[in-house]
Amino acid sequence: MHSGADRGRRNVADRSKTPPSGSATRSGRPHRHKPGNTKALDAKNGNTGGGGQPPRRASASLSTPAAEGRPARDAAVDAVTNVLKDRHSFDDALARSADRVGLMGRDRAFARAMAAAALRHRGSLQSVIGSFLDKPLPKDTGRLDAILLCAAVQLLVLKTPPHAAISIAVDQTRADRKARRFDKLTNAVLRRVSERGAGILAQLDRLALDLPPWMLERWTRCYGRDAARDIANASLTEAALDITPKDACAAGQWTERLAGHLLPTGTIRMAAGGRIEDLPGFAEGAWWVQDAAAALPVKLLGDVRGLDVADVCAAPGGKTAQLAASGARVVAVDQSEQRLARLRENLARLDLAAETMLADAALWQPGCQFDVVLVDAPCTATGTMRRHPDIMHLKRPEDVAQLVKIQRQILDNAARALKPGGRLVYCTCSLEPEEGPDQFAAFLADHPGFARVAIDPAAIGGETSWLTPQGELRTLPHFLNQFDEGLKGIDGFFAAVARKNA
Ligand SMILES: C[S@@+](CC[C@H](N)C(=O)[O-])C[C@H]1O[C@@H](n2cnc3c(N)ncnc32)[C@H](O)[C@@H]1O
Repeated sequence: MHSGADRGRRNVADRSKTPPSGSATRSGRPHRHKPGNTKALDAKNGNTGGGGQPPRRASASLSTPAAEGRPARDAAVDAVTNVLKDRHSFDDALARSADRVGLMGRDRAFARAMAAAALRHRGSLQSVIGSFLDKPLPKDTGRLDAILLCAAVQLLVLKTPPHAAISIAVDQTRADRKARRFDKLTNAVLRRVSERGAGILAQLDRLALDLPPWMLERWTRCYGRDAARDIANASLTEAALDITPKDACAAGQWTERLAGHLLPTGTIRMAAGGRIEDLPGFAEGAWWVQDAAAALPVKLLGDVRGLDVADVCAAPGGKTAQLAASGARVVAVDQSEQRLARLRENLARLDLAAETMLADAALWQPGCQFDVVLVDAPCTATGTMRRHPDIMHLKRPEDVAQLVKIQRQILDNAARALKPGGRLVYCTCSLEPEEGPDQFAAFLADHPGFARVAIDPAAIGGETSWLTPQGELRTLPHFLNQFDEGLKGIDGFFAAVARKNA
């Protein structure tokens, strides 16, 4: 009978004599580090907790510590495991695991960059790892998958020093009851990933490996092969930081103070990374974080001063804040108490007012009618994978039909809450036509008392290419590609407007 360690070692395929095709050349220096030496090496280099520069982009080179970097790496492994095994959302999983180990500032940002990249590039990184295994790993190996994945991210995506990544991964393996017998395998495989992984990675069809096939197939059907690949490529990159100023007239001034770029739509764009709370204007509530596309549906309404607006599906309140800041009287409805609490916190920081209502928007009976009802409906959110890489692991093709049903119920109820002559704005952050143009067309067909209002390009900064021939808004993640890496792209959003007959 073999010991656990022996079994672990036997899973490692020794490719040193016969490297996989095309990967015979080594990437980088040969790695001769012994795991036991790592802490001493890093202490000598003077690295202390958190890893040098704060990670500004997933692709940015990060200087990281060794032993001191363990909590960030533990949090990343935890978060990845919670998303992949327990199907938690990425934001929740990361917040919980980072809080548990008390991560702050750039350590937290490092954990986030690691976990996000592990989720984004899981398929291709697993393929690289698998090329150094003789046979697949057994099923019940605790966190081993996530440990290897997060270490591979450090070695091949974030380009952190290999000795720290490998040594800590070995320690993490030893600390996991179900994984510990694979400690030698972890060391051997990761050393090979460090030495030859980049060459193998470069040969892979990464889009096909990283994205669920159903998504790529759907987008190919809906948008054509080239656009589908552009969407896929953009969806696998980290998004920029987009900011909506509370006072649109002060956008230029805040752009300067934040050293950002002012988009024609009024959004201020910056490279992601660092602590948002530390940026000028955050504490005083001068702006909030909101993707440039997510800010568009409210802009379609023009001047909303003095209007009664129901923002159903409102939390965490980006659009409520836009409406309130523009002088509308807003009722913000959401069925999640927790998310509604976040909306209230956000409005308090921004010193903006709205009435909040915990209710199911499909059943809500307000007892009055509104000038505008904004339906930012629950959806598959496939347009937001740059920010939410969990979506590609958590959503399933059958979710589309299920969400279409809920969206229809919410829309039907919203129609009743509108005054004659009032306007309905329907939007989703999904790329799937059933949740966007098809849903809206079905609504118009079922509600002859409503007529589509074509969007005026001036409302969206003159970006005519974002409008469909029907006058609806359709952004795709690869739009706004005139910017440098780290500043490109926009969430995939659909929005349309209809007026109720007077
Ligand atoms: C896309 S998010 C809304 C984002 C928000 N409008 C913003 O701009 O910040 C969808 C929201 O719909 C809420 N929701 C889902 N189903 C709902 C329902 N049946 N009734 C009310 N709210 C619902 C979710 O809790 C979630 O907060």
